[in-house]
Amino acid sequence: IKKIAVLTSGGDAPGMNAAIRAVVRACTYYRIECIGVYRGYQGLIEGDFESLSARHVSNIINKGGTILKTARSLEFKTKEGREKAYKNLKKAGVGAIVVIGGDGTFTGGLKFIKEFNFPLVGIPCTIDNDIYGTDNTIGYDTALNTVVEVIDKIRDTASSHNRLFFIEVMGRDAGFIALNTGIGAGAEEILIPEKNLGLDRLVESLNKSRERGKTSSIVVVSEGDKIGKNVFELADYINENFPDYDIRVSVLGHMQRGGSPSCFDRVLASRLGVAAVEELLDKSTGIMVGFTNKKISKVHLDKAIKMNNDINKELLKVAEIISV
Ligand code: F6P
Repeated sequence: IKKIAVLTSGGDAPGMNAAIRAVVRACTYYRIECIGVYRGYQGLIEGDFESLSARHVSNIINKGGTILKTARSLEFKTKEGREKAYKNLKKAGVGAIVVIGGDGTFTGGLKFIKEFNFPLVGIPCTIDNDIYGTDNTIGYDTALNTVVEVIDKIRDTASSHNRLFFIEVMGRDAGFIALNTGIGAGAEEILIPEKNLGLDRLVESLNKSRERGKTSSIVVVSEGDKIGKNVFELADYINENFPDYDIRVSVLGHMQRGGSPSCFDRVLASRLGVAAVEELLDKSTGIMVGFTNKKISKVHLDKAIKMNNDINKELLKVAEIISV
């Protein structure tokens, strides 16, 4: 392999730049040219490439977002799109590619490998932490810290006004952000897709809190929660049951994806960037590099997207116990 391409795709996450930097510098270290692809798979289709030197990635380890930009390419979902991408890579003399992103990125990558047998390794990078085969995805730790910081601020106003707050957090279909920030920020209840609490249980729990003398409460709701109502409908429903409660809803939204990555995410991104390049040099393909039990690990991309990360039952129990 003389040239390795790198792209970021899907939702951006803090630490993406640190991962790009590590890939570029590992390539430089092993004397391989690194080709940056702009706007994810869309840039692959349009041949939007730039050769990246170690100096191109100076001063980005601390930056949120992605210098390579990102996109969710519809064209790459078509065979014609993927064919154009393959031709562009061949024309540029690229021998392998590192894709940085989440399940959509890996799904596209898998199709690409199956059709063209093109060497490809994935790096898990999404705030959702919904990828199997790694304890943490890059960006997750930073997002947790961002959310906890914001909930702490909301707590100030919740307690001053004796209010009940419903705070919606991201995570797509996974409750990792909600469960961990709920515990970290001391939420009363945590609603996640993996465990349907049911409306009656929620009402009962809020009732108990009031009986125990709580004057304000925070309920963290994962955006993928399956309680059957969106967060605003949920707040309305609770208001019908507790007409005297002063209820507010806060949807945190995309602020959870921004900001400077935590040290944990920077180190993780640096390790996985180097590991991805080394795997390609070792002729691996179709795998994702991850971090499991304090060690670099690897898993087939198929498993990474199809298998589920289990929600930690002990965490659920802790959340219940410490909210009395
Ligand atoms: O996958 C990251 C994520 O932020 C999810 O948590 C969320 O559901 C989704 O992306 C939002 O996507 P978009 O930025 O396209 O609105």
